[in-house]
Amino acid sequence: MNYSTFVRPHLLTLEGYRSARSEYIGEAILLDANESPYPSELNRYPDPNQHTLREIMGKLRIVNPDKIIVGNGSDEIIDLLIRACCQPAVDKVAVVEPTYGMYRVCAGINNVEAISIPMDRNFSLNVDNVLTQIADCKLLFLCNPGNPTANVIPQLQIEKLLEQFPGLVVIDEAYYDFAEMPTSISLLDAHPNLFVIQTLSKAWGLASARVGFGFGAIEFISILGKIKPPYNVSGISQKQAVYALQQPELKAERTRKINAEKIKLAKMLSELHFVTKVFSSATNFLLVRFKNSQSVFLHLKETGIVVRDRSSLAGCENCLRISIGTADENKTLIEALNRLK
Ligand SMILES: Cc1ncc(COP(=O)(O)O)c(C=O)c1O
Repeated sequence: MNYSTFVRPHLLTLEGYRSARSEYIGEAILLDANESPYPSELNRYPDPNQHTLREIMGKLRIVNPDKIIVGNGSDEIIDLLIRACCQPAVDKVAVVEPTYGMYRVCAGINNVEAISIPMDRNFSLNVDNVLTQIADCKLLFLCNPGNPTANVIPQLQIEKLLEQFPGLVVIDEAYYDFAEMPTSISLLDAHPNLFVIQTLSKAWGLASARVGFGFGAIEFISILGKIKPPYNVSGISQKQAVYALQQPELKAERTRKINAEKIKLAKMLSELHFVTKVFSSATNFLLVRFKNSQSVFLHLKETGIVVRDRSSLAGCENCLRISIGTADENKTLIEALNRLK
């Protein structure tokens, strides 16, 4: 694959920042980074290459750790991708909407135009239609499972896009752990223009630690590595992330619980006369259409319950996005909604 078709040319030869320590392995007296010598949990810079984290994630997802980059949340990875591939005020990205807002925001921050590709009415993709609209884009952002659509894009459609789009196809799998679907990571070997994003912020319970993962071809990952700040993930976060990843059964148990709560909540919501649709969900949230979402939103807010108003997004008219909480939180939500009757 010729990366110059979607990587900004000056980055191909750019010399990244190198810390003296990343070239030295083993015990040593560390006088290279102007840190405080007095020991505490925090006096040393963290591992800039996040070795342990990438090793563990590599085993978990059965992928070479050299194909993984760690970001300060997946939001940092989204920004890195745009900066790696798009010349400000020249290049474009394509965003299949409705979707996660940060693709468009990151493009805007970088002065990169984001072309909107609307999904069909039932939030499905017409791949041929998408392909005709994105020919001059460097990146295509797809969220799978979708936020806020909560549905899954069939793998065959993703493969067709990978085969026919010359730019980078970014599949954001933030909600992968809740879904019963194959990860697109398995397509990496066959498709060097694929990039997959996952995060520890959802099923793994570490939103505050800010740890996201990017999976891509080794050459492309090394270009992203030159752009990212060397110490982008704190030592505390790396430690917490390693700890969480070593307990996949805890994540699996919590995911099962959330999915079970989701089914109960979806049923209760669909029985309310002012709910017109509960979209099926492969995520840890429900997209719900109301007769009048604004009045429901305000009522919940007054009760002290915050949900996400998605009604201004195309295809999401009168929709609120509701995260699945604990059994008690979900019960309180339903009680509050019942008071609206
Ligand atoms: C689809 C999607 N991608 C990425 C993110 C951001 O994740 P992170 O916390 O890893 O930055 C979110 C957060 O809601 C999301 O919904």
